[in-house]
Amino acid sequence: MQFRLFESAIYTNRRNVLQKNSLTGLIVLLGNDETGMNYKDNWYPFRQDSNFLYYFGINMASLAAVIDADSGEEIIFGNELTIEDIVWTGSLPSLVDMATAVGVSKTQPYNNIEILIRKAMASGRKIHFIPPYRTENKIKMSQWLQVAVNAIDQMVSVPLIKTIISQRSYKENCELVEMDKATIISADMHLAAMRFAKPGMKEYEVMAKVKEVAYAQNGSLSFHPIVTIHGETLHNVYSGNTIKEGQMILCDAGAANDMHYAGDLTCTFPVGKKFTSIQKEVYEIVLQAHYSSLAMLRPGVLFKDVYLNAAEKIVEGMQLLGVMKGDASEAVAAGAHAMFFQCGLGHMIGLDVHDMEDLGEPYVGYTDTLKKSTQFGMKSLRLGRALEPGFTLTVEPGIYMIPQLMDKWKNENKFTEFINYQALDKFRDFSGIRVEEDYLITETGYRLLGKKLPMSADEVEAVRAESLQ
Ligand code: GLY
Repeated sequence: MQFRLFESAIYTNRRNVLQKNSLTGLIVLLGNDETGMNYKDNWYPFRQDSNFLYYFGINMASLAAVIDADSGEEIIFGNELTIEDIVWTGSLPSLVDMATAVGVSKTQPYNNIEILIRKAMASGRKIHFIPPYRTENKIKMSQWLQVAVNAIDQMVSVPLIKTIISQRSYKENCELVEMDKATIISADMHLAAMRFAKPGMKEYEVMAKVKEVAYAQNGSLSFHPIVTIHGETLHNVYSGNTIKEGQMILCDAGAANDMHYAGDLTCTFPVGKKFTSIQKEVYEIVLQAHYSSLAMLRPGVLFKDVYLNAAEKIVEGMQLLGVMKGDASEAVAAGAHAMFFQCGLGHMIGLDVHDMEDLGEPYVGYTDTLKKSTQFGMKSLRLGRALEPGFTLTVEPGIYMIPQLMDKWKNENKFTEFINYQALDKFRDFSGIRVEEDYLITETGYRLLGKKLPMSADEVEAVRAESLQ
């Protein structure tokens, strides 16, 4: 095989659980196709669909699979290579060999899936499928089901979505081994950034080093990295600034390893040898929020409560800097902390960096009784539900000084009982700080995935001092 697989029993067991989970009808899981970047034959790097990987493992384009939930029959649909294909690709494992390697005994040509689906529909059977996030898969489903493309999203199977989430949320030991590997590569990416950055460089030079480490370990990127002196912009993709002494770099990056498991870490470090005193004070607040969050991680605790606690720690810290005032828990309940902490505290991680997000945040991170908040700040919390052993998630508190938000709320006299706008003014050009690690929830608490990165201000400064000698 040109790709790595778990033992076939892993995939067989997963599919057995899925099939026996009280669905009736056909379960259709689509793999991804190669997709042109700027013309048809110049492809984006191929990324298999994570649900397809989870149940069928095969990292090849243009496959689909059906599980008959009533009979248990499993079929992988795809086309064997023709001599015309082999001229370009060389010989590759046959579809039959790949299917056998993941415990599936039946394969059929790709177009037969349409015939199977039509026949099942004609006899009144239910077709279960999950939300297609790629247009080509949406179009295929629309053709096979003979409905308009824009009707597809309303036809997805919530029972299938919930069943998949009920499996993928609990990481198996074989997955944890891969997640540790992905997170170790991710930590190496961050160490490389901390060691490589020098005043006068461009952000993209540091970004290039971060990417190099992932690819040099046979990995890839689990998402487009953020390497920026403007850490206040949450998803900052620009990396053309010159980095200067006195500034901080926020690096949010992660590797996907060769089994496609994701790491997602963030470090914030000074461009020079040391944080300035105010940078260090704010960094310590973020660290306190981080450690206080970790102390809460165990089964049964709502991650929403971990978020609220982190928000309160941030408010208390900002009070010590004279920027916030009043009762911290009232400030958080009102949403005033979102002046500094506009996003969530973390998300599930696994095969996807935001694990299973294609299946829908309300199902992955929330429950029938716990709904997502609509309040600015908290509405960006992707995970709110009670933690359980086997969950893997990020913990990533931060403080972000966004001048436009300061101006808007000040002009609206918003939260003047909690925010001292005059004191806030000196933070206009501060930028942002985030620290992020990945954790497994265990029976009794948590464990770090991968390896520890330098995180205390002293540890980070020690790496910087050594690098800038
Ligand atoms: N670390 C990137 C993200 O969570 O979106």
